[in-house]
Amino acid sequence: MSGDARETPADDGKFGRFGGQYVPEALMPAVEELTDAYQRYVLDNEDGFIDEFREHLRTFGGRPTPLQRADRSSERYDTEVYLKREDSVHGGAHKLNNALGQVLLAKYMGKERVIAETGAGQHGTATAMAAAHLDMPCEIYMGRTDVNRQRPNVFRMRLDGAEVNPVDVGSGTLKEAINETLRDWATNVEDTHYVIGSVVGPHPFPSMVRDFQAVISEEARSQVQEAADRLPDAVVACAGGGSNTMGSFHHFVGDEDVDLYAVEAGGSGLERHEDEGVAPHSASLSTGDEGVLHGARTKLLQDRHGQILESHSVSAGLDYAGVGPELADLVESGRVTPATVGDDEALEAFHRLSRLEGIIPALETSHAFGFLEREGAELGDLVVVTVSGRGDKDLETVIEETEQRDLDAAPDLEVFER
Ligand SMILES: Cc1ncc(COP(=O)(O)O)c(C=O)c1O
Repeated sequence: MSGDARETPADDGKFGRFGGQYVPEALMPAVEELTDAYQRYVLDNEDGFIDEFREHLRTFGGRPTPLQRADRSSERYDTEVYLKREDSVHGGAHKLNNALGQVLLAKYMGKERVIAETGAGQHGTATAMAAAHLDMPCEIYMGRTDVNRQRPNVFRMRLDGAEVNPVDVGSGTLKEAINETLRDWATNVEDTHYVIGSVVGPHPFPSMVRDFQAVISEEARSQVQEAADRLPDAVVACAGGGSNTMGSFHHFVGDEDVDLYAVEAGGSGLERHEDEGVAPHSASLSTGDEGVLHGARTKLLQDRHGQILESHSVSAGLDYAGVGPELADLVESGRVTPATVGDDEALEAFHRLSRLEGIIPALETSHAFGFLEREGAELGDLVVVTVSGRGDKDLETVIEETEQRDLDAAPDLEVFER
């Protein structure tokens, strides 16, 4: 991929102390085969893979997405605010960029089936859409709790022809779904590709998913230069596993004057309750320790015995106890600044952006706008915020959560009372 991005990391997928391939023996052949395919098709553009990928992004995905000056936000914060509109990608979130890349790669590799995990259902729906578009059988693993709380997305996946397998173990959320998908992959490596949903997992996934998502910053960097004739002072993006942040940051990492902010879910407080095995937040960059999760060394929420804590966020897509290894390294080196925004601030931001700009953001995205509200002009004279997805999928949650709170920016919900 072209641009001003820094070099792709070494072949072993190490980002400083983070990354690697911490997988069981049974998965090594699959990981090695994928590393070879990543080199040939994605990095070397063998058989015109990248050209075909970009064509699908354009004609099916609706790229390039706009970079829009947000007039009323600019006035409110007394700084130029530009929005990178990933909510306008087909399906309503940046997740399709990666899903299209990986399902297409599976075809180039001669695979006959794709599998994926999903939490909020955004990655699952993106994968199901890409699989239908590219005529590839698709199975999605999803924790039972998430199946029950994300019913519209489960239905969307099924409409696109994917099978949805509920996972009944543990808390029935993303972590268990990933474990189950890894198990399926290990059993069916011959004909199956695992479409992982973020910049997590063993090498080459973190590098490869970043490359597929880097189209966000590749476009944004040239769009902001065209619109404002300069680079931004800051780029702000929300971070769950980290694919939106890595995609939004990649082509700016070499621009030292551009500050990069990764906004995580502060949930209902930054404490930890190790004895109960829970953390009421998902702030692995800001508060996590080093450990190994899902095949990579990274920063994560764990107890003193290395057991993973159950995380929390009002936004299902940020509710993950780990984070991508490259993002962990960029934070460690000081290049990326982590920040946390709690459930309440994110909900306020959800309502505020809807009203100010006519854009209903995903709850994940709302965390980035909670940060903008807090920092405002402190971020500099020109700020790019990535709108990673649209909020239609969250409306039920927002109605419920808003009713339980006294939010300044929320509309009057009495209209629903009979
Ligand atoms: C709209 C949106 N933004 C952000 C995220 C967080 O994931 P990541 O950090 O991988 O971008 C999700 C995850 O589902 C999402 O749906």
